[in-house]
Amino acid sequence: MITIALPTGRLGNQAMEILKQAVEGLEELEPSSRKLIFHSRDSSLRFLLVKPSDVPTYTEHGVADIGIVGKDTLLEEGSQLYEMMDLGFGKCRMVVAGFPNKKDSWVTQSYTRVATKYPNIAKNYFSGLDETIEIIKLNGSVELGPLVGLSDVIVDIVESGRTLRDNGLVVLDEICRISARLVVNRVSLKTKNEPITQLINSIEKILEEK
Ligand code: PRP
Repeated sequence: MITIALPTGRLGNQAMEILKQAVEGLEELEPSSRKLIFHSRDSSLRFLLVKPSDVPTYTEHGVADIGIVGKDTLLEEGSQLYEMMDLGFGKCRMVVAGFPNKKDSWVTQSYTRVATKYPNIAKNYFSGLDETIEIIKLNGSVELGPLVGLSDVIVDIVESGRTLRDNGLVVLDEICRISARLVVNRVSLKTKNEPITQLINSIEKILEEK
């Protein structure tokens, strides 16, 4: 049996859709369900529904053989997991954003407060710049930071750009491109190589058809 850790939320729902096309017998896999463990009809696959930031943990510890997770989570968690595949969905950008009038001046300020759900990514990015920063960790609605004076800028993901636009903020710099990745536990890759390769080939085929 192969165990796959799927992230809850948008990314997980997209992953379920692709998996259901790639593999037969995944009727149980249902985004609206509150179940945390799903099995394929023939019990050859088991799926664990976990918080996105926990996908690397389950996969690193070998509880899951495979994980599907955003590159943002892998970067933030400093994961050393083997990335087998860029799944190509969940595309977005990790950016620094703020008010438009900060556009030319923010990098030259002596002290910048950065609100973010991604403190490690933010720290890494700013460590490459000659700038003193304070990281303010938030858990959501990060765009509020500059609006209420909690922070000067934010480091966050932008997908459609709507949240920034609706709040009068703009992208000041792009840190990196993000998409969903398929990661594999290194031991599983050796001990379960054939079924893992087979599953990856089936997913690849579906993605190519899209
Ligand atoms: C994410 C992200 C942005 C928004 C970007 O938040 O943190 O706020 O989506 O998407 P957009 O560019 O398409 O507007 P999420 O929806 O996960 O909610 P959160 O703020 O509660 O974390």
